[in-house]
Amino acid sequence: MKFLQMSKFGNPTEVVEVVESDPPPPPAANEATVAVEYSAIGPAELLMIRGRYGIRPQPPAPLGNEAIGRVIAVGDSVKNVKTGNRVAIPTGLPVWRQAITVAAAELIVLSEQADPQQLSMLRINPLTAALLLTEYVELGKDDWIIQNAGNSGVGRSVIAFAREFGLRSVSLVRRSELVHELKSAGADIVLVDGPDVAKQVAAATGKAKIKLGIDGVGGDSSHSVASCLTSNAKMVAYGGISGKPAAMSPLIIIFKQVTLEGFWLGYPRFRDAHEKLAAHTRTAERLIAEGKLHVPVAGVYSLEQATQAMAHAQKGGKVLLKPN
Ligand SMILES: NC(=O)c1ccc[n+]([C@@H]2O[C@H](COP(=O)([O-])OP(=O)(O)OC[C@H]3O[C@@H](n4cnc5c(N)ncnc54)[C@H](OP(=O)(O)O)[C@@H]3O)[C@@H](O)[C@H]2O)c1
Repeated sequence: MKFLQMSKFGNPTEVVEVVESDPPPPPAANEATVAVEYSAIGPAELLMIRGRYGIRPQPPAPLGNEAIGRVIAVGDSVKNVKTGNRVAIPTGLPVWRQAITVAAAELIVLSEQADPQQLSMLRINPLTAALLLTEYVELGKDDWIIQNAGNSGVGRSVIAFAREFGLRSVSLVRRSELVHELKSAGADIVLVDGPDVAKQVAAATGKAKIKLGIDGVGGDSSHSVASCLTSNAKMVAYGGISGKPAAMSPLIIIFKQVTLEGFWLGYPRFRDAHEKLAAHTRTAERLIAEGKLHVPVAGVYSLEQATQAMAHAQKGGKVLLKPN
């Protein structure tokens, strides 16, 4: 069986290597073995390999976070999954590999109708979006929210979940060619980020009082989002894809009393909210099956093509591994 590991912290194209090992152990009574179909390469894994993430495993360390697969063996007392089922594997496991044996209770049986590549991105970005929209600010039907990184996996999930929850969304992007595409994907308003974006947002929303800002970028884009918010609104930072410190005018903090909070799926209050996460996962699965949530896939690579896969993922776009 092959899997990917990092030999040390560093550039993913240089330190990620394919390793040959024994097959996973046969499942114990409450376990199942899953052959991995697709596994996503996320920005978090790329940061972790560079040693710049909230979790720093001791190298050499096996890699991966999010995947789906087919059950190939089950333990004697397993009832919730059967051999042949397509399942979502729990996050946080080293799933950049051909097969893995896990606690069967944590597997989610998936629809055969939905696109498996889309399903392989089910358990991180869609759940992040659902929690960002529901756990920070009380929002009612037709309330507006604003986000940057509108074209990211999280951004597209925010657009889909906002529509699902009866909210209206403003998405900021950095490339004008995305405006039409994201509107077709369900976004209400899409604008190119820039210095006068607050005026454009006010005009486009009829001066809506926007109570929630979602920031995945940092740098000046944080200020773009914050400057569109109403008094006592909340700005939630979940990522810093620009690599720059988040900027926000002190006047927004002082006079509008906008507050800033962080979001991490790894916070115990989210990680351990099993029923809530299961419900959001089911909603995301349905949105994918209905074609309402779709994240374009930029490339699919085998484990042997790890170097190309890492290079492509760092260049941008969603890259998947297909280990079998
Ligand atoms: N806190 C959490 O629990 C959590 C959970 C999930 C994700 N995240 C974080 O969220 C971020 C997005 O993840 P993802 O998987 O959704 O990413 P993704 O699908 O790979 O998308 C990355 C996005 O970032 C944009 N981008 C890249 N560089 C940029 C820059 N310098 N300025 C502005 N935009 C830039 C890209 O714009 P284009 O579309 O124009 O190429 C693209 O839309 C990552 O930082 C990730 O680590 C955090």
